[in-house]
Parts: sequence; structure tokens; C-alpha cells
Amino acid sequence: MLPGAKKYPHVFSPGYLGKMEVKNRIKYASTETNFNFVDGYVSDKEVAYMEAQARGGAGMVTTQGAFTDPSGEGKGYVGMMAIYDDRFIPGLKRIADVIRKYDSKSVLQLMHCGRVGGVHLDYTVGPSVVPQRLPRFREPVEMSVEAIEQCVQEHVDAAIRCQEAGFDAIEISGIVGYLLSNFISAYTNKRTDEFGGTPAKRAEFPRRIVAGIRKAVGDDYPVVIRLCGRELLDDRGGNTAEETMEINKIIVDAGVDCLSITAGWQESAKSVISRDCPQGSWLWIAEEYKNALPEHVTVAMAYRLFLPDQPDQAIAEGKLDFWESCRAMIADPMLPQKILEDRQDEIIPCMACNLCLARLFRDAELNCMVRPSLGHETEPEFGFYGFARAEQPKSVAVVGSGVAGLQAAVIAAEKGHQVTVYEKAGQPGGQLSAAANGPWGDEEFGRLVNYYVTMLKKHGGKLKLGTEATKEMLEELGADIVVLATGAAPDPAAYKGGDGPNVVAALDVMHGTVEVGKRVAIIGGTGVSISTALYLLDKGGHTVSIIGPQKKFGRDVNPSYIWRYMSKLKGGNVEMVTLCQVKEITDKGVVVTSKESKDTLVEADTVVLANMTPVGSELREAVKKKDSYVIGDSLQVRRAVNALLDGYRLGMRL
Ligand SMILES: Cc1cc2nc3c(=O)[nH]c(=O)nc-3n(C[C@H](O)[C@H](O)[C@H](O)COP(=O)(O)O)c2cc1C
Ligand code: SF4
Repeated sequence: MLPGAKKYPHVFSPGYLGKMEVKNRIKYASTETNFNFVDGYVSDKEVAYMEAQARGGAGMVTTQGAFTDPSGEGKGYVGMMAIYDDRFIPGLKRIADVIRKYDSKSVLQLMHCGRVGGVHLDYTVGPSVVPQRLPRFREPVEMSVEAIEQCVQEHVDAAIRCQEAGFDAIEISGIVGYLLSNFISAYTNKRTDEFGGTPAKRAEFPRRIVAGIRKAVGDDYPVVIRLCGRELLDDRGGNTAEETMEINKIIVDAGVDCLSITAGWQESAKSVISRDCPQGSWLWIAEEYKNALPEHVTVAMAYRLFLPDQPDQAIAEGKLDFWESCRAMIADPMLPQKILEDRQDEIIPCMACNLCLARLFRDAELNCMVRPSLGHETEPEFGFYGFARAEQPKSVAVVGSGVAGLQAAVIAAEKGHQVTVYEKAGQPGGQLSAAANGPWGDEEFGRLVNYYVTMLKKHGGKLKLGTEATKEMLEELGADIVVLATGAAPDPAAYKGGDGPNVVAALDVMHGTVEVGKRVAIIGGTGVSISTALYLLDKGGHTVSIIGPQKKFGRDVNPSYIWRYMSKLKGGNVEMVTLCQVKEITDKGVVVTSKESKDTLVEADTVVLANMTPVGSELREAVKKKDSYVIGDSLQVRRAVNALLDGYRLGMRL
């Protein structure tokens, strides 16, 4: 028995989907990728991605949602695969075949995106005309009874195609604002006919789909459905928990073998899967449904279950049957295998940054902050299945252990180069190690730093902490390749009075290495200022102002996060001093000049500088004649995702 199976005996015990045995309890959750052809045909990229997921060892691999109608009303993503015609079966079959190769069960998902669909149309469809909350989606038109009946039939026909393509099971997505959930919710269903009104009538459309599919596929074919356990739409007149339970039970009773239970809609104004939601936050909903449903119906759940401990315990306690994983396995499809081999510290950890989602909504292909090989699984130079050894191993000196430097170093070491990373601080990680001291789940950044350090060591690389690289040292070292990844730091010289005793650097604040007074003014207006303000708010006892020339602060911050951060800052009464220039820093605070040339004092005991500026340019001189590279913030100040990509791309070239 492999060590991980001993450690997590429940996760690695066989489970059942209806009558079908599954080798373990891990289900790769459905993930739209935008990889497929715009006309709905499956692409090679999609097949390769699915292969990676199956090869990683999950008991079940779910496809992305496939749209079921020729009009494209159900299509929510430009690269979404289609299943509305037999001509798509051969492409879909390629996915079923590739999953089977790895002894994993294949689950094909049907997904009509409803009020968030119609990606190529100028309208969406739904049970009723209820205006959109999110401006990116087009307004819905009400479906006629004939359209509803046709939609039911399209789902049934699609299920038959799913069987013909050789999938082991079918899944229907009814979550987050897609069509089935639109019918279920009192928020979006205002109908007064047989498909609206009471909870039972709101259940009728999905019930007919399940009943129709069950009849078509036969008793033994596993049917899974994804439904919301909590809509989190109280502010919009959504369902109560009791209504949701009543409706979900009706739908499950129509012939479901496994319920994948979820929380929240895209329109919910609450955090559901972001980092500020602690891992395991929603398991109680799975337990609720385990207790409410008949024993033969299994319950699956994804939603911030990134590590095996909580699912293993939940399965042991009878609160869950299947651990679904989406983002943790986007970040590392090999997660199941690494857990099984007790190599958890080698898992590329998902940062719950939601860049993957943000990209889909901008019609871009799926990508991942921490795994640039995503979508390039078949291209050996991206190293998803391991990097080839370098023909001529070289000595590589990497200066700086932020994400850029570490990422480049890890790949170079894996290729067999002799790599040493020099870090002047006492800990690795650069800005990410400071960010990991932030509140609301930001300690998870530390997992990424630990991952790099583990992998560097594993591949024989060295990390020298507390070692500042100087020009002389680099000259003396004589490494074949020098990588300057020295990062960025605030520049006190940018402001008059920036060298005053009341002035500190943002990263030092977040490392807790400097004293910070009661009234704090942070100069910057970018993500670093916002993180520092959040850190201080969490510590308590400070009144905070953020100062910057921008109209809106945090434009560089991921769109999935900025609204959360802004509402937290607002709740903490953080003053936003926008559209101004810093005139000078005095012992009383910061004097700012407005657009109208008016000077004002922003009072502060401590002034925090977050005007990040590349550092380490003096080292460039020392390595000018060498094979040398400048990456990450030391090249140009950007976000961690860009630094990481710089490091990855360089690693690929070395
Ligand atoms: C990029 C991305 C694409 C997704 N596509 C689908 C989809 O096609 N169908 C679906 O039911 N859920 C989809 N989901 C939701 C996931 O299956 C999952 O429920 C959610 O991400 C929460 O689980 P996690 O915390 O493990 O990521 C998607 C999620 C992400 C991040
Ligand atoms: S992009 Fe971010 S949230 Fe999405 S899988 Fe990668 S690390 Fe996780």
C-alpha cells in the first residue's frame, strides 16, 4: 500500500456512483477551458488537458460543461464544447477514451448557461425577465413553454450521445446562475405556469430533465447533478434553505445517483471560493445533504477543499462521499498521485487567485497563475511531464528568491544545471513571503514559497539565505549564467522627506519588523498599498489613509479580489486620498497637492512607502558580458503572476 493510502484511507477507498465502482473518492470537477473550437468541436488541447487530469490519478474525471442547443443560447464560453448533434460524438469519444486509459471513470457534463449564456448572441434566456446584476451578461428573454420542452429534449438527446461517446456517467450542471438554477431560484423565476410559483413548480424543469435522462440512459447508468445547497442570494429574494432543500430533493428523486452540492451564484455578493473563505468552509452543506438524502444517493463537493485532510475526515464521518477538486487540480493535475505517494509538499499549490476564472470571462483560454504549462501539456519544452536534462549542464547563479527567481531556479535545477539562489533576507519568497503575513487566507501564499524551496532541494539546487550578492561576489563566482531576480522595493528618494525617521517600507510593515504608529499614511495606490492597509486593519489599532495619483486604487489587483478588498477597506474606514501628488513628507504626515494645486496635510505618525521600484540595477554592470538575464519586478514592477511567468519562461530556455 502506498503511504498516502495509509494516511488517507478514506479518500483512497473505492466509492460508488450508482452501481459503478470508482477506484478512489477524488473527482476532478468540471472545468470550462475555452480550449475548444468556436463551432463546438473538441480540440487536441482539450484532450491533452483531460489526459493530464486522468493521468494524475483521480477516480473520476469530469469534462467541462457541453452546451446542448444548436442556437447557442446555452453556450456561455467561446471555446465551450458542444453536444447538440451526433457530429460531435467522435471528438467527445476521444475524451472518454483518453480518460479510460488511466483507469479513471469519465463523466460528461451537460451545461446550459441560461442567464449567463448566449456568448455569441445579443440576449440570454431564462424562466423570466430579471435584469442582470453583473453588467457583462446580456439581458434575458423569457422562455416559452415550447422552448422549455425543447430544452428538456435536447438534454435527453445529449445524454444519449454521451453514452454513445463511451462516457461512464453523465452529469448535469445546475449551479451558479446556469439555466437549471435560474428555474430553481425565486430570484430569477417569476413564472406563474407549471414551471414557476411554488418550490415544486420551480423544480419541474430540472426534474423533467433528470427523469427524461434517466429513462433514456437506463437504470444502471450513473447520473450526477450539480445543484446549489445555498444560493447566497438573500439580498435578491433568492430561495430560503428550506425551499432549496425541498427542490433539490424533488430533482434527486427523479433519478439521480450522486448530488454534487455547491454554494453561491456568480451574482452572490459573498465570498465563496476566494482565499478569504477558509478551506472546508462549505462542508457543512454536504453533511446536511448526506443526512437528508436516501443512502443510495452519494454526495460530492468541491469548493475550497484543496488538501486531503478535510475530505478524508468528512468521508470517514459519513458527511461526504466524493471529494471534488477543480482549481487545486488545475494548478496540479498530479495532485492525487502526489498525495498517494505522500509527496504533498511537491504539489503545485493553488492560490485561489481566480485568474483562471477571470480569463474565461474575458474569452481567453484557461491559464493558471502557478502553472504556466496549462494548455501546453503535450509540448515537451513546457515540462509538464518533466523537463529534459540539459545537454551541457552549467552553473547558474540566481540572485533573489522571489517567485521569479525561485521558479527559474527550480526548472534550471530540474534540467540538471548546478543552481544556487542567493537571497539577502533571512527567509525565501521575496514579496510573497511578506504577502503571506496578510489576513484572510493570505498565509496560503506561503505554500507556494515552500513548494519552490522543496523542489529546488529535490533537484539538487542550493538556497543561500542571508547572502547579499554584490558586484564583486558575482564577478568572483564566475557562474556560467546569472539570473537577476532582485525584485522591487519602495524608493524613499522619490519624495522629499522620504528619508525621515517616520518613514518605513511597506514590506517591512508586513514582515512586522518596523514599529507603526496609530495614524498611518500609505503612499502608492497599487496592490501593495492595499495589502498593507488590509494587514494594518487586521492588526487593529490604526487609522489608515492611502495616497496616490490614481483615480481608483488597486487597478493592478485581480478583479475577483479588488471589490472584496475595497469593501473591507471601506468597512475599516480607510481614507482614500486619490488624484494627488505627494509634495513632501514631514514629521506631521504627508503634504499632498490636488489637481487644483491645493496643498493638504494627511496627518500620520508613520508614513509607509509602497512606491515599488526595481532594485539591483548596479548588479547588471557586473554581469554585462555574461550570459545573464533580468526577470520579475527587477525588470518591471508587475504582479506575482507576471514574475512567475518570467521565471518559468527563462527556466524553459536555460
Ligand atoms: C476555470 C473554472 C471553470 C469552471 N467550469 C465549470 C463548468 O464548466 N461546469 C461546472 O459545473 N462548474 C465549473 N466550475 C466550478 C468548479 O467545478 C468548482 O465547483 C469550483 O471551482 C469550486 O471548486 P474548487 O474550490 O475545487 O475550485 C469551474 C471553475 C473554474 C475555476
Ligand atoms: S489561476 Fe489561481 S485560482 Fe486558478 S487554479 Fe491557478 S492558482 Fe488556482
